[in-house]
Amino acid sequence: MSKVKNISLAAEGQKELEWARLNMPVLAKIRSDFEKAKPLKGIRIGVALHLEKKTGILLETLVAAGAKVAAASCNPLTTDDRVASAIAQDGKIEIFAWAGQTNEEYYWCLNSVLDSKPHIVIDDGCDLINLLHTKRKDLLSNIMGGCEETTTGIVRLWAMHREGALKFPVFAVNNAHSKFLLDNQFGTAQSATEAIMRCTNKLVAGKTVVIAGYGWCGRGIASRMKGMGANVIVVEVDGTLGPHESGLQRGLQALYDGYRVMDMDKAASEGDIFVTATGNKNVLAKSHFEKMKDGAILANAGHFNNEINEVELKKMSKETHELKDNVMQYSLKDGRRLYLLSEGRLVNLSRPSGQGHPIEIMDGSFAVQALCVQELAKGKKMPAGVHNVPKELDDSVARMLLESQGIRLQKPTAEQAKYAEEWKEGT
Ligand code: ADE
Repeated sequence: MSKVKNISLAAEGQKELEWARLNMPVLAKIRSDFEKAKPLKGIRIGVALHLEKKTGILLETLVAAGAKVAAASCNPLTTDDRVASAIAQDGKIEIFAWAGQTNEEYYWCLNSVLDSKPHIVIDDGCDLINLLHTKRKDLLSNIMGGCEETTTGIVRLWAMHREGALKFPVFAVNNAHSKFLLDNQFGTAQSATEAIMRCTNKLVAGKTVVIAGYGWCGRGIASRMKGMGANVIVVEVDGTLGPHESGLQRGLQALYDGYRVMDMDKAASEGDIFVTATGNKNVLAKSHFEKMKDGAILANAGHFNNEINEVELKKMSKETHELKDNVMQYSLKDGRRLYLLSEGRLVNLSRPSGQGHPIEIMDGSFAVQALCVQELAKGKKMPAGVHNVPKELDDSVARMLLESQGIRLQKPTAEQAKYAEEWKEGT
């Protein structure tokens, strides 16, 4: 049976869901195909995704395909209680989620999802898949495969894959082009900027904004902050923080995009607003807090709440209190005050200020999820490990996203297609 914060919020949640449904044309198209073909008939799906309105539309789509679904949030702060209540009240999907969970409650919810004995799991950050490989190994034999939504989850899955520990195939949904090129960049750009402004209501123009990490998320946020008149500093490192690119190359890209680039030791004393988006830990630490200006604002847009070392910040403080929703004041012993947004958790999704990425962005990301689940449900033999999303599937989502905007691109001519494959002819 579902467990949510307050079922009386359901009517409000229905309105939020309706608004998302109206603005997710690609999922609507997939849903209509799924309703006819029922490709997920008899399939149980366990979900750990940020439980907000767009996620609700993905869950409906899976149910329309014939699946039985149980869902929790993948973060203790990111459930929209109105939406969770609306889905739970409808009764077709089991929901275990509310905003403001303790760590224990969070894992109780993930375990409750796994109690439904899923065949397929959809994860965001890899906590659900990790649980399956540690405390719930007994359920592994049911699993056909999984899908992972985010960069942090993919990094963890690759570590499992390298050690031969990953026991079923997982689609790296994050790495589909119709996901990371749009969601990570344009989605995070808008949702993180919007959430910081909703938390603080402060003017960005004229401020010095320090962005730590120049991956797709960091570069998106930097561009929006610049567009609003901020003086943007990008912080990168001389090292590899993820499997793909080095910080040196990212630092150069930031420089050539027109930003000041430096390390955090130098940037710490300059910033008015700090945003971490690195996927790594202790990016803002004691030595940086020591140098920051009175009134500096600290926000994290990375998946986990370890990018800003809150424990150190607290130790340096003589007093802390929640000044308003999503804003915690740390009064340091030397008299300065620093403000941490959303407990250092994903600022763009933490309730009540965070709403997640724009609806159209999640239409694309969740379309990839829905089609990958369909692919897994076909039961084709796939080895355990991390799998790229098939190119045709990826392209089909891009095509549907363009068509939803009334854009249809021409195919290259036969002559052009041939030329693109040739090596002999140069002119
Ligand atoms: N809404 C639901 N899942 C999300 C995600 N991973 N990022 C941003 N917004 C979301």
